[in-house]
Amino acid sequence: MKQEVPEDVYKDPNDFYTLEEVKRYDNNSGMKKTQMILTKDCMDLFFEKKVTTQNIEILDVGCGTGFSLEYLKESGFKKLIGIDPSIEMLNQCKKKGFLCYLGGFEDLSKIKEIKNKEFDLILSISALQWCISNKPEIEIKNIIKKFGKDLLEKLTENGIVIIQFYPTSENKFEIVKNSFVRSGFRVEEFIKNKGNLKKQKYFLILNK
Ligand SMILES: C[S@@+](CC[C@H](N)C(=O)[O-])C[C@H]1O[C@@H](n2cnc3c(N)ncnc32)[C@H](O)[C@@H]1O
Repeated sequence: MKQEVPEDVYKDPNDFYTLEEVKRYDNNSGMKKTQMILTKDCMDLFFEKKVTTQNIEILDVGCGTGFSLEYLKESGFKKLIGIDPSIEMLNQCKKKGFLCYLGGFEDLSKIKEIKNKEFDLILSISALQWCISNKPEIEIKNIIKKFGKDLLEKLTENGIVIIQFYPTSENKFEIVKNSFVRSGFRVEEFIKNKGNLKKQKYFLILNK
C-alpha cells in the first residue's frame, strides 16, 4: 500500500506545517542529514556542469526551515535567498538569519524582494511534489510549463536549475521532465540509487 504523505492530504502546506510540526521537522537530525546530503548531491551536479566560484547568487525554492541554506552557508556560499509558502517554516528559517520570503514555485514572478534579481543557481529540495500531488496529467503539464517559464526568467545567462523531488511514479517523473522541456529548458535527469525503490532519489537539471 502507498504510504500516505502530507502533500496528498493537505492542499495548503500551512495546514500541515504548524508550529509544532515545524519544530519536530527542524529538530529531526535524521531529516537534517538527509536534506543536507540531497543538497550536496545538487551541488555536485552543479559543479559538474559549471566551472564556478562561490560568489554566485543562489535561490532555494521551498527552503523550509533552511537545511539547504545552512549547508550552502557552511560550504562558503554567501549570496543565499530562500522562498517558501509555509509561514511557520519560513519563521524558523528567518530565526537562523537567512534572507527568506513567503511564496512558492507559483509566486516566482510575484515576490517583490526577488523581482529584479537573477540567480546563477536555483535549487529545490523535496518541495515540488507539493505542487503536483493529486493533480491530473493535463494540470501537471500546465503547472510545470508555467513554473518553467518563470524559472527561465529568474536565471542568469549561464544559470541552472536543479530540482530534487518525489514523483509518485516513473510516469509522473516523465510528465514533469517533458513539461520543463516544453517550457524551453534543455533537461537532464539524474536518478540516485536507481532500482532501489526505497532509496531512489529523482533530480532534474534544467539548462537554459
Ligand atoms: C519536506 S519540506 C523540504 C524543505 C526543505 N527544502 C528541506 O530540504 O528541508 C517541503 C517544503 O516544500 C514547501 N512547499 C509546499 N508547497 C510549495 C510550493 N508550491 N512551492 C515551493 N515550496 C513548497 C513546504 O512548505 C515545505 O517547506
